[in-house]
Amino acid sequence: MTVRVGFLGAGFIATFHSKMLRGAARAGLDVAWAGVHDPDVAKAEAFAAASGAPVCASVAEVLDRSDAVFVCTWTAAHPALVDQVVERGLAVFCEKPLAVDLAGATAMTRAVEAAGVTNQVGLVLRRSPAFLHTRALIADERSGRAMSVVFRDDQYLPVQGQYGSDWRADPDKAGSGALLEHSIHDVDVLEWLLGPVEVVNGHTAAFHGIPGIEDDVAATFRFANGALGVLTSVWHDLLERPSLRRVEVFCERLHVVVEDDWFGPVHWTRAGEATRTLEGAELHEATAGDDPDAGNPDAAFVRAVAEGRPAGPTFADALRAHVVTDAIYRSAATGGAPVEVHPGLPPLG
Ligand SMILES: NC(=O)c1ccc[n+]([C@@H]2O[C@H](COP(=O)([O-])OP(=O)(O)OC[C@H]3O[C@@H](n4cnc5c(N)ncnc54)[C@H](O)[C@@H]3O)[C@@H](O)[C@H]2O)c1
Repeated sequence: MTVRVGFLGAGFIATFHSKMLRGAARAGLDVAWAGVHDPDVAKAEAFAAASGAPVCASVAEVLDRSDAVFVCTWTAAHPALVDQVVERGLAVFCEKPLAVDLAGATAMTRAVEAAGVTNQVGLVLRRSPAFLHTRALIADERSGRAMSVVFRDDQYLPVQGQYGSDWRADPDKAGSGALLEHSIHDVDVLEWLLGPVEVVNGHTAAFHGIPGIEDDVAATFRFANGALGVLTSVWHDLLERPSLRRVEVFCERLHVVVEDDWFGPVHWTRAGEATRTLEGAELHEATAGDDPDAGNPDAAFVRAVAEGRPAGPTFADALRAHVVTDAIYRSAATGGAPVEVHPGLPPLG
């Protein structure tokens, strides 16, 4: 079955998804570009010229032509569009964060689950070879218990350079700053690597002086398994550093360093053994297994739609990252007091 994909929003990340699908189509994925809508007509036309998707004058026109829809607008526009997609019973891929706040993310997840459609979110790091390898190393029983994680994430203030848009400086469109807009990825990866978080503390600062947009975040975590963690997330003005992560994990008998969040290198040392390193194609091969869509979350989504089965990470996975993120903001609002993280998800019934 050819999966007809539509795009709502034609900016930076929509273009990225389209390119990933183009690569998969060349390798045989059966996908067609059904349509694109963006009120910024120049962006819609540029997307159409590059992808072959026809420009549609309305959201409804995209939905009429699609089996699956990528929601790639700024964050505040996600909820209303996702509602329209799932009301039609269409499969939906929504970018992270789901919404500008926890209440919005909860309502969206409820609607998607009630509709029972194949759904996926843009928490791409769960398909990163570097983090897949790290997860397997931690899970190996030779490693002992996970003890501690240090997670650093930095990028330049994303209203310049490769981003080509300025909505991330507007809290009405973005919700808030570095933690929600960017480091929701990191919060998701932390729980995916180490299990549920029980308690957080958070501090935020705003060096750029943009009201409602924090650009510096320090958070600490206590995980249910006893491990501890720290996250530093900063938006600076070094255009030389578009988006970089470095992560160190200590288990009782394992030390892992992730130098780059996709192709590594990943270095690891086990008790009594020499340090080993994997990166690039070798790291990809070590983690790909027999997954035809290894490293390509967009292709994985389209294949799941074609086969009528669930995809992932799901809206529910993203909602959990919203739960933890919200707790960090609530801690920061009190000057860093510990906040217990509600276990699981808010009620979805
Ligand atoms: N997963 C990732 O790693 C990742 C990376 C970048 C961005 N994102 C997320 O993707 C989303 C978009 O970010 P971006 O960088 O592509 O922004 P962008 O500014 O490049 O593109 C967003 C586009 O949405 C359009 N838009 C706004 N309202 C719309 C509506 N109602 N219908 C159709 N189009 C509409 C805008 O005109 C704009 O062209 C954000 O939620 C962002 O957080 C995720």
